[in-house]
Amino acid sequence: MLVDPNQLNAETSYKLVTGTVVPRPIAWVSSGTEPGQTNLAPFSAFIFLSSYPPILGFNCGRRAGTQKDTSRNINAYREYVVNIPDESLLDAVHQSSQDFAPDVSEVTTLGLETAPSVRIRTPRIKQAPISMECQLQEILSFGGSGAEFFVGRVVMFHVRDDLYKDGKIDTAKLRPICRIGGPNYAPLGEIITMGRGGTLPG
Ligand SMILES: Cc1cc2nc3c(=O)[nH]c(=O)nc-3n(C[C@H](O)[C@H](O)[C@H](O)COP(=O)(O)O)c2cc1C
Repeated sequence: MLVDPNQLNAETSYKLVTGTVVPRPIAWVSSGTEPGQTNLAPFSAFIFLSSYPPILGFNCGRRAGTQKDTSRNINAYREYVVNIPDESLLDAVHQSSQDFAPDVSEVTTLGLETAPSVRIRTPRIKQAPISMECQLQEILSFGGSGAEFFVGRVVMFHVRDDLYKDGKIDTAKLRPICRIGGPNYAPLGEIITMGRGGTLPG
């Protein structure tokens, strides 16, 4: 079957792309520097763009044509935290995507807690196994939807002690979750370790 992107509208293109680019990691973004007002929302249009220096990117769309709270906060304060949720946080991740009023903190409403960051004012989520403090580097846009692709440089990593050994993350212990299409998520499946690649037989 051939699907011509020029024949798709915003909704059908979204369904095709988000069903095809799977599984996606989840950036659980805390933003806003006002005490007690930390905003929290999940974003799965998320990737790292560079490991050295560490640079992350995620795409924040508009809601009925208006900026989401995350977008407003990042434009205002030029910093945010990308928290990585584990399986135990799945329900909170899903709930945090609801459209809460701008002055309502998802963090306190969902029974989560914040912890201070080290290099920025925006707090991180205490329950998250990994959090990355980010300073906004640039904002890119693609097409005319008003969505903003935030490029942020990681200025501090917070990693739960038991997850980090010999400079590596223990992925099985991390128990990350990913998003598939719509309200569907998946845990990490079986980890398959392959031999060294790059050599063809014969
Ligand atoms: C797992 C998951 C991933 C999501 N990924 C994105 C995304 O990549 N971009 C986006 O604009 N919205 C995404 N959303 C929707 C936002 O989380 C949702 O619009 C949220 O209410 C935004 O919150 P805010 O207004 O506090 O910023 C996602 C929702 C879920 C549940």
